Amino acid sequence: MKINIPLESIPCEQLPVLEKIIDELVEKGFAIIDDLLLAEQSQSIKNRLLELKAEDEFKKSGIGKAVLHQVDETIRGDFIRWIETDDLHPSIECYYQFIENFIAFTNRSLYLNLKDLESHYTFYPPGKGYLKHRDRFREKPHRVLSMVYYLNENWQPGDGGELDIFDQRIKKLQTIAPRMNRLVVFKSEMVHEVLPSVQSRYSLTTWLLDKEKELSFL
Ligand code: OGA
Ligand code: MN
Repeated sequence: MKINIPLESIPCEQLPVLEKIIDELVEKGFAIIDDLLLAEQSQSIKNRLLELKAEDEFKKSGIGKAVLHQVDETIRGDFIRWIETDDLHPSIECYYQFIENFIAFTNRSLYLNLKDLESHYTFYPPGKGYLKHRDRFREKPHRVLSMVYYLNENWQPGDGGELDIFDQRIKKLQTIAPRMNRLVVFKSEMVHEVLPSVQSRYSLTTWLLDKEKELSFL
């Protein structure tokens, strides 16, 4: 994975999307992009996720840093499968290409110093969510931006699993449906919550870091 590729190598047709994300991040702290990839690309990422799930590759997620690693289903009910950046499955190469471009563009336009990322496939069984939390906190200060790419075909109101984003006073700013091929980017310090899903809920979650990732995953 390359960090800070030259801006000239970003395909022109991607620039408006990248600009929209930056504008919304500056204005509100979060951005929503629908139809990020081609429908077939999105579907093949979903198929890969389901394949890994069928192979029993997902593990219960935890909360807190490694030494205090806890599994508390009342706070967080998802299952995850980490992605190794050095060994990408072809189905997610296009998504990583987009992220590479996004990092280069963001570092230049917001004067950030994003250096690495960590990423996992995510699955919430019916009835599960993730209570209000931040992704960046004192013990884990290196997550700068959070990105969630949703993989739920035909999501309907009533299916649950929306992402709520809050301001500093914990006033709700927006409720976002986890629709197929929708990307949400938000500042990792913002409080957010995943509402319980009625249906199984699938996504790809990525954090952009201001330091190189340590080899030990949570
Ligand atoms: C997380 C998270 C949001 C979402 O994994 O930390 O908050 O919408 N995910 O899945
Ligand atoms: Mn989170």
